[in-house]
Amino acid sequence: MPSIPLPATSRRESAHISPSAHYTGFVWFRHGLSEAPFASDFGRFAHRVLRPVTWGARRFFGLDIERFLLQRHLLIDARLEQTIARDGVTQVVEIACGLSPRGRRMRKQYPQLTYVEADLPEMASSKRELLRVQGWLGPRHRVEAVDILADSGELSLSALFAGLDRSKPVVVITEGLLNYFERPVVERFWRALAQQLQAFPAATYLTELYPDLTEHPRYRQLRWGVWLIGKLTRGGYPLHYQTEAAIAEAGKTCGFRAVQVLNPDQQPAALGLPRGPLASLVRIVEARC
Ligand SMILES: C[S@@+](CC[C@H](N)C(=O)[O-])C[C@H]1O[C@@H](n2cnc3c(N)ncnc32)[C@H](O)[C@@H]1O
Repeated sequence: MPSIPLPATSRRESAHISPSAHYTGFVWFRHGLSEAPFASDFGRFAHRVLRPVTWGARRFFGLDIERFLLQRHLLIDARLEQTIARDGVTQVVEIACGLSPRGRRMRKQYPQLTYVEADLPEMASSKRELLRVQGWLGPRHRVEAVDILADSGELSLSALFAGLDRSKPVVVITEGLLNYFERPVVERFWRALAQQLQAFPAATYLTELYPDLTEHPRYRQLRWGVWLIGKLTRGGYPLHYQTEAAIAEAGKTCGFRAVQVLNPDQQPAALGLPRGPLASLVRIVEARC
């Protein structure tokens, strides 16, 4: 498949996104999903500084940012566990892992798993060091450097996937990554990923996406929140696709055989979260090759 050139605006590096991993890392810790080493001082500080903003969004607009984060994290966990149980998956690759504790939790729960975490070189090296110091790093739990914008070379997807066992099924996860990029970049990544996944007997890709839900009762406030995330991360936070059908269609066009789009509001049992006052803003995409 010919490579589609990146738009000029996304050809630059995306390292400005990495600090946001400290914020979400602290959120997972705060809600009992991770252990203390994953909560960085910067994450704690960022959470404290942003508290008035998240409080105001919740109090005045009913927009509970941490609830949306938990919805995405827990639903990805639930689908991953289901895939491990149903398909006997023994290898997982989590791209843009940041300070997510999922690898650690899943390795504890399913010792048969090989869990490869991956992120931009600097973040990957911090995560590797974190796991090493705790004695959690090993041949079955490693951290690699990757850049989803790299077409070739040691940071490319093909270099990352070269280290996997192609005779066994695989699950790939990205969380908190796609909405930092414009849609052509997202679709270019999906195409490259789908191409890599063809080499495995079965492959599942799990991700979250914040669609452009123009009918949502808090759409105007949401646009303001999205603008703020863009400012804080010195980039942008574009919302993609207006319907679940459009997301599924795009996934199939990019090379996935089947694409399911899940609304966390319709999966309460999987999440163990009380129902919120507002319709969810996030969707989980489960795509198969
Ligand atoms: C919001 S954080 C999400 C971290 C983690 N997945 C979570 O949910 O807590 C975004 C992550 O994407 C990573 N990232 C940004 N650009 C990337 C790229 N081009 N390739 C791979 N990872 C990237 C950042 O370094 C950062 O760790």
